[in-house]
Amino acid sequence: MSAKVVVVGSLNMDLVARTQRLPRPGETLAGDSFFTVPGGKGANQAVAVARLGARVAMVGNVGDDAYGHQLRKALEHEGIDCQAVGVCPGVSSGVALIMVDAASQNSIVIIPGGNGQLTPASVQRYDALLQAAEVIICQLEVPMTTVAWTLARGRELGKTVILNPAPATGPLPSDWFADIDYLTPNESEAEALTGLPVTDIDSARRAGERLLQLGAGKVIVTLGAQGALFLSPAGSRHFPAPVVKPVDTTAAGDTFIGGFAAGLVRGLEEGEAIAFGQRAAALSVTRVGAQPSIPYLAELAP
Ligand code: RIB
Repeated sequence: MSAKVVVVGSLNMDLVARTQRLPRPGETLAGDSFFTVPGGKGANQAVAVARLGARVAMVGNVGDDAYGHQLRKALEHEGIDCQAVGVCPGVSSGVALIMVDAASQNSIVIIPGGNGQLTPASVQRYDALLQAAEVIICQLEVPMTTVAWTLARGRELGKTVILNPAPATGPLPSDWFADIDYLTPNESEAEALTGLPVTDIDSARRAGERLLQLGAGKVIVTLGAQGALFLSPAGSRHFPAPVVKPVDTTAAGDTFIGGFAAGLVRGLEEGEAIAFGQRAAALSVTRVGAQPSIPYLAELAP
């Protein structure tokens, strides 16, 4: 059976250090623990889709190293279609150096490795996957040319196109907006995309309205504990977040996106799919690590 969701994006091995607080520049700190877990925004989102009940294919690259082998195995273990996960000879796999403090805040440095070699041609080779899908998801941890190509192809095929603009360092190219059905920034990404400060629901609304003006179909600004703000040309709606005690917020956004997409292809109405994604993300922040923190459908109350 073909995948209803295709994720075009990154796979990283996450090297995670837990510390009481994040170090200042030039400072050496003794941390509390260290572990490695599969991550990468693309792979995390694919895992979330799979665990939350929808068939998904991953399009991406790993390096020809031990991490690459582990990253691919982790996705295969979830039943994800990995035919389009390529191996780049002579290149390392993507790696994310992650520090998480006692307040569950994280800071992340990414080394792209194989993710940086995902070309438009390498996605085009798997056009049959895009053609068979209902939803296509991209993020910004692979080359911009590849994201641009995938968004445009998704639009051409009439698919539901989701762009999670993460990590965002500035405005998106203006010709991307017409190809995006759902743009899903968090606070800092919404700020980077618009230049407007985003700290609460009202400021998220201003940024979201700006992104609609720029041409995005619909916008979902995720605000952590402050919930999510959905905006469309018809109006906006705030979705409060379930109250949980956070342990590690890594991959919470990815879990939300995967849950939202899985909800859509499983036939949930848009608002129900947002709430479903939020419930999954809330559970993920009570657990440590990226992919290990992502819940399964059976764990979510109906
Ligand atoms: O969104 C969380 C992810 O960001 C981590 O798994 C890390 O790999 C980085 O890509």
